[in-house]
Amino acid sequence: MQRMPFYGAYKSLSHYPDYWYWKLRRNPVRSPHLLKQRAVIDYARKFGLRTLVETGTYYGEMVAAVKNHFERVYSIEYDPALAQRAVGRFERDPRVKILEGDSAVVLPELLKSLAAPALFWLDAGYWGWDQLHRDPERLSVEVESVLSHPVKNHVILMDDARMLNGQNGALTFAEFQSRVAARFPDRAIELRHDIVRITCR
Ligand SMILES: C[S@@+](CC[C@H](N)C(=O)[O-])C[C@H]1O[C@@H](n2cnc3c(N)ncnc32)[C@H](O)[C@@H]1O
Repeated sequence: MQRMPFYGAYKSLSHYPDYWYWKLRRNPVRSPHLLKQRAVIDYARKFGLRTLVETGTYYGEMVAAVKNHFERVYSIEYDPALAQRAVGRFERDPRVKILEGDSAVVLPELLKSLAAPALFWLDAGYWGWDQLHRDPERLSVEVESVLSHPVKNHVILMDDARMLNGQNGALTFAEFQSRVAARFPDRAIELRHDIVRITCR
């Protein structure tokens, strides 16, 4: 089903029922995509961020939902078929650039070209994705490269925070929080709706 041409449209249409089903179940930890879209838009607005960098494009759902709120959107996808599909989907929108490759390599490269604060939506299957090897260190590499960048007021939103559970080599959220706090004491870290939010104090 996922490889079929209408899958992207089907996913877009499913966001509203997904959201109401989540409300009906009294807001379980795993949050619906609509809520994630709102978090991205709210943080961009609140911190005046005009550039979005996403790791993990997948079917381009986040890009499609929020691109009108940004001047520039970069999205990094490892899977060549998904990356090419997204290139086709957004080829007529000059704001959107899909970058194919491993986010742990592409993100630090991309950062070299950023001169203004950006919003980072980190969502590249850090705890395992299909056949890709899980690599708990990849997330730390990316967070470190964003927070140590010369532009100090980037904002990071990181999805699937429930996976920071201390299992299979992952840190717990408390460990992750104290690592970031020790290295970057000027940053605030908050966890809400399965999204870790790192901002400048
Ligand atoms: C949860 S999906 C992303 C969903 C998307 N961000 C959204 O909000 O609609 C995870 C994606 O990360 C991609 N991915 C996995 N490992 C990656 C890596 N090392 N670099 C870039 N993308 C990766 C997967 O192929 C998959 O498309």
